[in-house]
Amino acid sequence: MIRRQNQIVVLLMLLCVIGGGVHAVQAQFAQADRDSINRYSYLDFQEMKKSLSIEIENRPGPSGDPLAANAANTDESNVRSYSLPNPLMFSDGKKVTNQKDWWAKRRSEIVNDFESEVYGRLPETLPKVNWVVKSVKDTIVGSFPVQEKTMLGIVDNSAFPEIKVEIELVVGTPKEATGPVPVVMEFGFINWPFGKRAPEPNYFMSAYEPLWKQQLLSQGWGYAILVPSSIQADHGAGLKSGIIGLVNKGAARAPEEWGVLRAWAWGASRALDYFEKDADVDQKKIAIEGTSRYGKAALVTMAFDARISLGFIGSSGEGGASIMRRNFGEQVENLASSSEYHWFCGNFIKYASSLTIDDLPVDAHELITLCAPRPVFISAGSHFIEGQWVDAKGMFLAGVHAQPVYQLLGAKGLGTNDFPVLGFPLINGEIAFRQHAGGHSTGPNWSTWIAWAHRYWDK
Ligand code: GCU
Repeated sequence: MIRRQNQIVVLLMLLCVIGGGVHAVQAQFAQADRDSINRYSYLDFQEMKKSLSIEIENRPGPSGDPLAANAANTDESNVRSYSLPNPLMFSDGKKVTNQKDWWAKRRSEIVNDFESEVYGRLPETLPKVNWVVKSVKDTIVGSFPVQEKTMLGIVDNSAFPEIKVEIELVVGTPKEATGPVPVVMEFGFINWPFGKRAPEPNYFMSAYEPLWKQQLLSQGWGYAILVPSSIQADHGAGLKSGIIGLVNKGAARAPEEWGVLRAWAWGASRALDYFEKDADVDQKKIAIEGTSRYGKAALVTMAFDARISLGFIGSSGEGGASIMRRNFGEQVENLASSSEYHWFCGNFIKYASSLTIDDLPVDAHELITLCAPRPVFISAGSHFIEGQWVDAKGMFLAGVHAQPVYQLLGAKGLGTNDFPVLGFPLINGEIAFRQHAGGHSTGPNWSTWIAWAHRYWDK
């Protein structure tokens, strides 16, 4: 008996050793992959700098580690004074005085600046996307019966068959719905590596608060998840593949060409094309949501596609809703480094090398004005838990400085210029803001967002 137990123990130990070994090998592979991604990203970054004729080194960005010697500024008293470009002034210095000025000319000036200097331009011709249904199933989310469709947007690659792009999208609508329903589309994950189901982004706080999908379903609304990496990889090494590489037939980008955020936003626009044909979805009531880099992508999507009805922009930080000129948290030098430059067009690198952020013709508040007068909710986590890298106040201030455009267009802004206390919802206007008490997630803001969204979607 004892011998037998010993044999079992030995067997279990052996399995642990083998299991540990497999994990160690997997970790080694992951590290090797990471190393080669970093190496190829750096090469592409250098290639881009060459085509910009920038010979000097980029200025290094501050560290996100608050204990580091070169930690990013998190002290309000060290914020420098800066002057922001005025969204209501034409580039020739004349004032924008009426709605026609905005729609006929000023808005396109701002679009043009963002395209040429920050997020990049879309190629003139883009391949068609053919949406196919991979599966339709009935499922239960929480206690809500749902019909979930798994879709694949197959991008026509006949011009360059070496690169294949298939956009992954899941759409869930209440089973008992009798007509088209509003839908919130999230930039997120459907499947985890190794085929497992992805945990919910706000999984860890689910004990007391229903997950986002359940909260939407409880209102009779639907959810969708769009997978960014199925459109374009999240690193510079991938710029010669994905949709950007496909259009360039595997060649490097030119300095004005689109970066990854714009590519993800393009993918979201193709999902909107699909929704127009889905009888379960109310195409006039589609919101976009995302956190962090996906929060940046959500804001870029809304700015460039007028079909987005509402925005839920989570902890998007620098390169998203945060004022870039504000020296607090992440800085342009971080964004324009070899690990993040791929989110932007090549020209953006200039602002961390040959030029400075004060030379940039636009700033984040103007990205918000491109959404005007459509309602946009800017979300942040608690600085105690999320940290200060995203600069919650910088995102609030972008909302403040976008306000004059919303007002010109007959909409309401935040209603105050004073940064609210943690948790206080500013939700009386078409620019909304709330810093919740949780971490780097939109999770704790869903119920506030939903209450605000009702004002627009119940009409
Ligand atoms: C880094 C990066 C941020 C980004 C974040 C994320 O922290 O500096 O700009 O938002 O990653 O997407 O997780």
